[in-house]
Amino acid sequence: MQLHKIAIAGGLAFALSLGGALANSSKPAVSFGTPITEADVAAWDIDVQTPTGKGLPAGSGTAAQGKELFDAQCVACHGADAGGGSQYGSMVGGVGSFVTEKRRLTPGSMYPYAPILFDYIKRAMPMTAPQSLSNDEVYALTAYIYALNELVAEDAVLDAASLAAIEMPNRDGFIVDDRPDAAAVRCMDDCE
Ligand code: HEC
Repeated sequence: MQLHKIAIAGGLAFALSLGGALANSSKPAVSFGTPITEADVAAWDIDVQTPTGKGLPAGSGTAAQGKELFDAQCVACHGADAGGGSQYGSMVGGVGSFVTEKRRLTPGSMYPYAPILFDYIKRAMPMTAPQSLSNDEVYALTAYIYALNELVAEDAVLDAASLAAIEMPNRDGFIVDDRPDAAAVRCMDDCE
């Protein structure tokens, strides 16, 4: 414990001396203290409250548009019709498989809330260029994958409201882990 404290103190001293050195030079490499702009924050503020859809952005897309995007940007890794490709297994079907010995992890079988798919694609896909898709494109891809999973009609248009309204088959398939040692109370103040 004592060693740990010393290490932290040393790190702090180094950080302070580094800050001092930068402040003294005529052209600091980093502008410490520059206020961040609303636009800077907005670029990072992409989180969606998946149970309610709160935070889903404006925009919309159709499954047909999604198919075009998918065939251009996703098919190499996920396979035709999202049926499984070089990097990932199928993203279609499997509904109900969670109560069998051969569960299949697909958005349709697994996600309790529909906006999860939007949030996942928006922040992480395509794997080679995450966050390169517009909101309309992500709605379109979401519509395409949910249409393949027969959770929306083939001509469905998805936007914030219609996406949040989809009822997922496995919505009530999750149980709360009530083992006593799994309960953690988050400490925000005066923590040990
Ligand atoms: C270079 C390969 C690659 C490309 C291109 C790619 N993906 Fe993925 N994708 C992956 C991998 C690998 C995973 C699994 C990641 C993990 O489990 O951490 C994944 C996971 C996913 C998942 C989560 C699947 C699930 O069952 O929860 C979705 C949805 C998805 N990708 C959609 C897309 C879409 C849409 C595109 C095109 C815009 C795309 N991906 C392009 C490799 C790729």
